Amino acid sequence: MTSQTTDHQGPQESRLFNPPASFVANARISGMDAYNALCAEAEQDFEGFWARLARENVDWKVPFTRTLNEDNAPFYKWFEDGKLNASYNCLDRNLQNGNADKTAIIFEADDGAVTRVTYQQLHEKVCKFANGLKSRGIKKGDRVIIYMSMSVEGVAAMQACARIGATHSVVFGGFSAKSLQERIIDAGAVAVITGDEQLRGGKFLPLKSIVDDALALGGCDSIKDVIVYKRTGNPIAFKEGRDIWLNDLVDHQSAECEPEWVEAEHPLFILYTSGSTGTPKGVQHSTGGYLLWANLTMKWTFDIKPADVFWCTADIGWVTGHTYIAYGPLSVGATQIVFEGIPTFPHAGRFWETIAKHKVSIFYTAPTAIRSLIKASDADEKVHPKSFDLSSLRLLGSVGEPINPEAWMWYYKNVGKEQCPIIDTFWQTETGGHMITPLPGATPMTPGSCTLPLPGIMTAIVDEAGHDVPNGQGGILVVKRPWPSMIRTIWNNPDRFKSSYFPDEFGGKYYLAGDGAIRHKDTGYFTITGRIDDVLNVSGHRMGTMEIESALVANPLVAEAAVVGKPDETTGESICAFVVLKQARPTGDDAKKLALELRNWVAKEIGPIAKPKEIRFGDNLPKTRSGKIMRRLLRVLAKGEAITQDVSTLENPAILEQLKEAS
Ligand code: WT7
Repeated sequence: MTSQTTDHQGPQESRLFNPPASFVANARISGMDAYNALCAEAEQDFEGFWARLARENVDWKVPFTRTLNEDNAPFYKWFEDGKLNASYNCLDRNLQNGNADKTAIIFEADDGAVTRVTYQQLHEKVCKFANGLKSRGIKKGDRVIIYMSMSVEGVAAMQACARIGATHSVVFGGFSAKSLQERIIDAGAVAVITGDEQLRGGKFLPLKSIVDDALALGGCDSIKDVIVYKRTGNPIAFKEGRDIWLNDLVDHQSAECEPEWVEAEHPLFILYTSGSTGTPKGVQHSTGGYLLWANLTMKWTFDIKPADVFWCTADIGWVTGHTYIAYGPLSVGATQIVFEGIPTFPHAGRFWETIAKHKVSIFYTAPTAIRSLIKASDADEKVHPKSFDLSSLRLLGSVGEPINPEAWMWYYKNVGKEQCPIIDTFWQTETGGHMITPLPGATPMTPGSCTLPLPGIMTAIVDEAGHDVPNGQGGILVVKRPWPSMIRTIWNNPDRFKSSYFPDEFGGKYYLAGDGAIRHKDTGYFTITGRIDDVLNVSGHRMGTMEIESALVANPLVAEAAVVGKPDETTGESICAFVVLKQARPTGDDAKKLALELRNWVAKEIGPIAKPKEIRFGDNLPKTRSGKIMRRLLRVLAKGEAITQDVSTLENPAILEQLKEAS
């Protein structure tokens, strides 16, 4: 762990924006007194608080009697003797409470075509899908990989797995064959659900052929079935016996499927995410605790009401798309948009146009998208939010990376017309749902600050010794008590789970988020100051520097590589790679050509999202006498700043000059 952020003194942004009085008056959690009362309840009777919420918000087949089991900490168990089904909680209970004919999903296709699916229809789709999976012998406890684009079928695939107790692992459609293969092997999956192709920004992109490539790389013998959703209808290769069209699998199935009642701790899904070292980690989530938090944060953070049209722009390949598309909105019976396309097609006003078209009332997106749309609307009035009727909006959200105060203000003024609270939601793949966020009908907002933890979430900022630091002084973000939707383990690697998240430094008791943070001297509001490990956040996508380095050195031309993040106006951070080739250091056009070749190589190894924006070639890398690469110097060089730090431990100071600029 590095601690470059622990001495962070700012930001001490002090502006406060109150939520509109009308919002507060109608909010589910109305005013700070209501927030404080919930926090007090959690403080006074931690288990009683969570037990009450779990009973009120989740439908249990078998009620739990034990709320929290800490015997084998940090392998916490929540509601362990209870039984439930996540799909039942998202679908069946909506049929019983009058939502059967309510629209569950408004699918907005890449080309603007719209399909609506009611809760009744989604229930039928999921039941048939689930019966189809069962007919192939897929059962409780099996792992199923979902490699699909944004679609009703993608959501139905996740729900169908949940219905039969199979653990899904969604792999983002932008990952390469190799990344997919690694995840298939690690998960020991029995089936892959995919599409023929995906449509994004008017382009046809492959899916099935990448699955074929992944399986051809070897080691995937556990895979018995490849189920293919027909999206574009272009010809694809088919392997008899292994591959089957989704329609052929489900059309003749019964529209009823009794849910598999699973224990609360049964793994609902595994989602791979990057850590500072090694291969991606399979973050394992539970069924009961996870579902509780997906449901409750829809109510608390999003203040969801029956008439809302909810739109989370994330992809189901990320945790945001799990909690705030596939599970949360359905579990509260909401109407939501599922969007296939991209924010800039056919023009950069697509988000605003879609909000107007479907009268979206709650909109949740990433700062990167906002920043790029600010740029686009500065250049062209036609795509500026003011050119669209956004009067349906009542709440805005931000997720995935820090939102800079300028972008926050633009979002607040131009999209929300100063009438919509902004919830800047801090959380992680590992946390399952929101952790630190304003409550829209209670918390006065400060641009760039995620403000205060949700009730029951015991966040704190500590120093390296685990002691609380005073407000105004930066430190390490931890969570002092377990919470229901927390990561349960790393699939196949409980030791790594312990050492990554519950390190001995803090007595093995505190959950270590991996972020630095600081609390405002007066309000106590949290501001996230960035990762304290070697994890990058590019456009809200999380990547390990080491993964990218491994991909680079796998190229036969590369002798050594070091990757660092560089602040980027639009994407938050960008990837800058320092590379030593086996051949002499290239310059001029040679360097350009080789840089392009290596960027494409990384895209092929990991996926296009991991492509370094910049590659600099050197004869060597800056190292200490003991041979350790000095990344903090590389970070300074990447930014184009002069090195003011002590370089006395550096073995080869001359190299710094060479790495100062792009080759
Ligand atoms: C990392 C987690 C949140 C789900 C999607 C990303 C950063 C996330 C915020 C925020 C500042 C944020 C953190 C965190 N992050 N939200 N509101 N303000 N930073 O999940 O891929 O697991 O990434 O994203 O650095 O650790 P993820």
